[in-house]
Amino acid sequence: MTYDVHYPSLYELKTKAQARLPKFVWEYLNSGTGQEHTTRLNRTALDQIKLMPSVLHGEHTVDLKTVFLGKQYDLPFGIAPIGMSGLIWANAEQTLARHAVSTNIPYTLSTVACQDPESLGPHIGQNGWFQLYPPRDPQIRTDMLNRVRNAGFHTLVLTVDLPVASRRERQTKSGITQPPVLTPRLMAQILCKPSWALSMARQGRPTMPFVASYGNAQKGLPPTEHIGYLLRTSPDWDYVKWLREHWQGPLIIKGVLDAEPIEQFEKIGVDALWVSNHAGRQFDAAPSSIDQLIAYRSATDLPLIVDSGFETGLDILRAYALGANFVMMGAPWHYALAALGDKGPAHFARILELDLKANLGQIGRANVHDTKSRLISNAK
Ligand SMILES: Cc1cc2nc3c(=O)[nH]c(=O)nc-3n(C[C@H](O)[C@H](O)[C@H](O)COP(=O)(O)O)c2cc1C
Repeated sequence: MTYDVHYPSLYELKTKAQARLPKFVWEYLNSGTGQEHTTRLNRTALDQIKLMPSVLHGEHTVDLKTVFLGKQYDLPFGIAPIGMSGLIWANAEQTLARHAVSTNIPYTLSTVACQDPESLGPHIGQNGWFQLYPPRDPQIRTDMLNRVRNAGFHTLVLTVDLPVASRRERQTKSGITQPPVLTPRLMAQILCKPSWALSMARQGRPTMPFVASYGNAQKGLPPTEHIGYLLRTSPDWDYVKWLREHWQGPLIIKGVLDAEPIEQFEKIGVDALWVSNHAGRQFDAAPSSIDQLIAYRSATDLPLIVDSGFETGLDILRAYALGANFVMMGAPWHYALAALGDKGPAHFARILELDLKANLGQIGRANVHDTKSRLISNAK
């Protein structure tokens, strides 16, 4: 694969993405909530994690393969769920699913993606995870799980960090609404970004087909009520128990920060926890994900995923040195798509791979699991 030297890091991809996306799409993809303290904190907390370089360690061959929940992946990172991915770039879900299969990394399809599990099934091979926003109606819940399983997704991720909608002021200011309505203001933003507009014209208007298939009429909702109403639930421990009983494959809980209830998770028998502050999009006084990874690691032996604000191979190394079992990224894959279209995901994966190899070389280690001893504790 040729490597485009104009984009050696996520920074260049992000800059190009911003130039190509209409303002409301950029704000949807890039914004946090409140004053975005938590979003910034994710970065500063990662920067504080220092690793000791190593010299005179001789030659070694780097191996980035990682086993997570019994499945071997070729790289130690994957793709987090992004709602309305297809609004950010046309056909994003399918492009990312195919990329996940070709590089053998996990891809997580969101409940509110622009493609449903059935249409993505033929492209996802053995690499499909499905992220569930919790439907309140048990019948819908059961039906969703059956459809997801039959479409070939083997791992279920329950997202729990949206007990209520967050405000995301930048998004509101940009003119985007829920459900999205094409106002003259948004039209004006779109007209300035021809490559995005053309790709959308080919794809058609982005929708949320999985949720929409449980339509308003069917549920006796007024036609004006947004279909997202079906998902507006604050799940509790019984909800997690119910899912554990009804989903036979691996079950992951996403969006945990407080390590206090760890025993309850262990007792219910979840397979892994996903430490995340939703990229700072939910709560502006939340701690950084990387700090809470440390808290979780000292509290449990359960496998731990971490995300939120990871940008480089070095960031991924930092997480493994602190005991992560896997790292996920969400927005960065979409910066890559918006910058380089279909070639974006492979280019971004290559950047991460090169960065991982370069930094593993600096600390004299052959794989990400053997990095703990290079951690400098209390580094500032
Ligand atoms: C535009 C956008 C949409 C998202 N949609 C979802 C979603 O549908 N479900 C979910 O569990 N998390 C969602 N997330 C959170 C991501 O899965 C992930 O936790 C977060 O983006 C990780 O941080 P990063 O983007 O800095 O890598 C979304 C994040 C963004 C930026």
